[in-house]
Amino acid sequence: MRIQMNIKDPRKLFLLCLIPLAGGLLTSCRDMETIRKALEMHNIPGATYVGSETCATCHDKEMKEFKLATHERISIPMEGVKVEGCEMCHGAGSLHVEAGGGKGVKIVNPSKDPTMCYACHMEKKAEFNLPHHHPVPEGHMSCTDCHNPHGPDARPWTSTSLEDTNELCFKCHKEQRGPFAIEHLALREGCTTCHKVHGSINDKMLSQRDASLCMRCHSDAALISDHAARLRQGTCFSGECHVAVHGSNYDKHLRY
Ligand code: HEC
Ligand code: HEC
Ligand code: HEC
Ligand code: HEC
Ligand code: HEC
Ligand code: HEC
Ligand code: HEC
Repeated sequence: MRIQMNIKDPRKLFLLCLIPLAGGLLTSCRDMETIRKALEMHNIPGATYVGSETCATCHDKEMKEFKLATHERISIPMEGVKVEGCEMCHGAGSLHVEAGGGKGVKIVNPSKDPTMCYACHMEKKAEFNLPHHHPVPEGHMSCTDCHNPHGPDARPWTSTSLEDTNELCFKCHKEQRGPFAIEHLALREGCTTCHKVHGSINDKMLSQRDASLCMRCHSDAALISDHAARLRQGTCFSGECHVAVHGSNYDKHLRY
């Protein structure tokens, strides 16, 4: 993943075209062509790219914040121009600048429509199209409910600390916060251990809908005398079994 950080370096860009990268992002030169087309398609009609320095004259706050941002390191070469900085998400800014700026004035605001994000994150578009997803396509939520586009961590948490991993989710899902008398230690590894939060083919956005979700960490459970028979009746977290997967106040086996 690190290679993508240096996309502004032309040699690395060459590498980028040759090496398939994890995460399905910018994996080939053909993808690069798709990105170019997508950026063009969603651009402001008639506008040209003016560069982030121009935006800085009026948007000092965002500019300062953006200095250490994930996206600050990215640049997409287009015909005769490099798309980078503010304009990769907000579209070419010349008409907005000429008009003296303003809300809704010739500028893209991706909080209302994630299409600009999808230009580069095509795989996210596919994930949000899966049957169970956070309601971003329906317009009830935005990428920015979970991601900070200007800040140093576009992810909801830093890669070095798991400590606050779940805080973001608790903003809206208070029931899972607890505190529970009997904690399920799996939650300490983050909600995303079991949930695919952009979208999933499984109900409740689970990464797996069967026992394998739990067997990853509890392979020894199959050895308990009556478990093999029980597993044929359903998953670990259905029926009379361990339905209190997020923690329990009553039962140390998380059954209720
Ligand atoms: C001449 C000053 C000026 C320049 C230069 C300028 N803007 Fe703005 N921009 C504004 C003003 C004023 C607003 C309205 C702010 C408000 O109402 O809170 C605005 C609003 C915005 C918004 C919010 C739009 C919305 O609909 O919510 C975005 C995004 C934005 N600018 C991006 C940019 C980008 C990117 C650039 C550089 C290409 C840029 N601006 C250059 C003055 C400017
Ligand atoms: C990774 C994509 C991305 C980049 C790059 C980016 N922005 Fe934004 N920007 C957004 C999103 C998404 C929002 C909406 C945020 C929200 O609603 O919370 C936004 C909102 C804004 C707003 C409106 C803020 C408001 O309070 O309404 C301004 C102004 C703005 N950006 C300016 C900039 C400037 C200036 C730069 C470059 C220094 C920049 N942005 C770079 C994605 C981006
Ligand atoms: C011009 C292409 C482009 C656009 C537009 C774009 N991104 Fe990105 N984004 C990237 C690239 C490339 C990376 C990979 C950076 C890395 O891992 O080095 C990235 C990384 C990310 C990450 C992961 C950061 C991390 O620390 O792993 C998030 C989250 C993200 N983008 C969200 C968004 C959102 C939300 C939008 C729209 C508001 C958006 N992006 C728009 C190219 C883009
Ligand atoms: C409900 C919260 C939520 C929403 C809404 C959301 N994300 Fe994320 N996103 C996350 C979490 C959590 C991670 C970290 C996943 C992990 O580390 O396993 C992440 C990771 C990412 C990454 C980097 C890692 C990867 O999976 O490739 C990108 C890029 C990204 N999101 C883009 C987007 C875009 C674009 C949108 C809007 C269309 C969006 N996200 C909406 C929560 C969200
Ligand atoms: C800004 C609010 C918000 C944030 C932040 C948020 N969610 Fe959600 N979540 C929602 C909404 C809205 C729904 C859809 C509820 C519905 O359709 O009934 C949802 C649905 C879900 C569901 C499916 C629930 C069901 O009954 O089908 C799961 C699982 C989930 N979210 C997990 C997470 C995780 C994990 C995180 C943190 C990465 C997170 N959410 C962050 C608002 C949020
Ligand atoms: C060990 C795996 C696991 C972890 C970790 C996990 N969940 Fe779940 N979650 C599940 C399962 C399994 C279900 C579905 C239960 C069902 O269908 O009866 C579920 C269901 C949900 C639901 C739907 C409502 C409900 O209770 O059925 C929400 C919302 C949710 N989880 C949020 C979260 C949040 C927020 C976190 C992180 C604090 C999290 N989950 C961590 C396994 C997990
Ligand atoms: C990321 C690893 C991980 C995953 C995935 C996971 N668990 Fe756990 N679970 C733990 C840890 C760690 C403990 C505490 C140590 C122990 O007692 O084994 C625990 C404890 C439990 C306990 C209490 C122990 C007991 O003796 O009864 C139950 C029940 C349980 N998990 C059920 C589940 C179910 C059901 C799932 C799938 C929805 C699941 N776990 C997924 C890590 C995990």
